[in-house]
Amino acid sequence: MNVKLLLILLVAFCGCSSSASLKRSPYHYEYKNKFYYLETLYKTTWFKAFMACSKMGMELLSIDSDEEFDKIHEFVKDKMEYKNDLEIWTSGVIKEKDQFGWINSGNPVFSRWHPNQPNNYSGHQFCLNIWYFNKQFLLNDMECDTNMYFICESRKV
Ligand SMILES: *[C@@H]1O[C@H](CO)[C@@H](O)[C@H](O)[C@H]1NC(C)=O
Repeated sequence: MNVKLLLILLVAFCGCSSSASLKRSPYHYEYKNKFYYLETLYKTTWFKAFMACSKMGMELLSIDSDEEFDKIHEFVKDKMEYKNDLEIWTSGVIKEKDQFGWINSGNPVFSRWHPNQPNNYSGHQFCLNIWYFNKQFLLNDMECDTNMYFICESRKV
């Protein structure tokens, strides 16, 4: 296929799957300028979670503020099995040593880390997840091929 045509098709496809056409379910939420989808049916790797969000016209979660983080916490508590060691992918990935960034905004991840995290524990913890551990719902660095739940977002236009 001709590259230009392919690009046009891609743009058209992205337009069609915009947030407005999202199907509502108990696991869809809105807060301020975003829609969210909490995947609670299966666990997968960071990359596959990223692709699953893309297929819905969404992106993996990027957290813009502590207020948004608190809201996500409420959603999760309400709708997922909220038990010790629950892990959920966000869009965060490593930028350089000890520095993570959100895919969507490119902003650095600067708060809400678990104590002594990120620690690159295994020497290859390059993806960022939410981890409910020791009664704390906070961020952690993890191997990207770990299977866990994930949250997608899309911004309202
Ligand atoms: C993570 O640890 C490995 C092994 O010690 C090291 O080679 C690598 O540079 C570290 N990565 C970062 C981004 O800190």
